[in-house]
Amino acid sequence: METTQITSAPTPAGNEAEQTRLSQASLERLFLQARSHAAWQDKPVTEDQLHALYNLAKWGPTSMNCLPMRLVFLRSAAAKARLQPMLAEGNIDKVLTAPITVIVAHDTQFYEHLPRLFPYFETARDMYANNAPLSKQTALRNSSLQGGYLILAARSLGLDIGPMSGFDNAEVDREFFPDGRYASNFLLNLGYGDPQALPPRGPRFEFEDVCAIL
Ligand SMILES: Cc1cc2nc3c(=O)[nH]c(=O)nc-3n(C[C@H](O)[C@H](O)[C@H](O)COP(=O)(O)O)c2cc1C
Repeated sequence: METTQITSAPTPAGNEAEQTRLSQASLERLFLQARSHAAWQDKPVTEDQLHALYNLAKWGPTSMNCLPMRLVFLRSAAAKARLQPMLAEGNIDKVLTAPITVIVAHDTQFYEHLPRLFPYFETARDMYANNAPLSKQTALRNSSLQGGYLILAARSLGLDIGPMSGFDNAEVDREFFPDGRYASNFLLNLGYGDPQALPPRGPRFEFEDVCAIL
C-alpha cells in the first residue's frame, strides 16, 4: 500500500500558504517588531533610498489605478523651517531631528490622469470630474492607502517611520501647494529610529473584538 510521507505539519491555511508566506524575520520587520518612532539616530537617508522607497510603494493597488498620492520630501533645514510653524508643539522636535519628513498629499484632480492610467474605462475621468464628493472621497481613501504602502515599503527597505497628523493641513497646503491643487493628508518622518527612546507598545484589539466572519 502506498504511503504519504508528511514532511511538515500543514498550517490551517494549507501547505501552499505556508510555503509562500514571508519569513518570520520579515513579518517581525514589517509588523510584529516595527514601531512608530519619535526619536532619530543621526544617520542620513539618501536620495537613492527615497527613489527606492517610492518605486516600491507605487505598486500598491488603488481604485481604477488612480494613484492620487503626491509626496514632498523635506530634507533641508530650510524646508523643515517652513513646516515648523504648522506643527503641533509635541511634533516639532520629532520633525527637526528626523532625516526626512514626507508630506503625504494627494492630487485633488487625480482624475485628469485616468485616460493614461486606466484607459479601459473611457468615461472615468468625467465620472470623477463631475462628482466632487466622489472624487474627494476617492482621493482621500486611495492616498491614505498609498501612505500605508509607503510605511510598509519603508520598513521593507530597513527604514523606520513616524507618522503624524498633528499639524494644520490648511496652512501646510497654503505654504507648500499654493495653487490649491494638491492637499496634504499626513506627515511621515523617515530615518533610523532610536530604539532606546521608544515608549511601551500600545495594545491591539483581538480578532474577536473587532472582526466578524459572516
Ligand atoms: C495617521 C497617523 C497620525 C499620527 N499622528 C501622530 C502625531 O501627530 N504625533 C505623534 O507623536 N504620533 C502620531 N502617530 C503615531 C501613533 O500614535 C502610533 O502609530 C500608534 O500609537 C502605534 O504605535 P506603534 O507603531 O509604536 O505600535 C500617528 C500615527 C498615524 C498612523
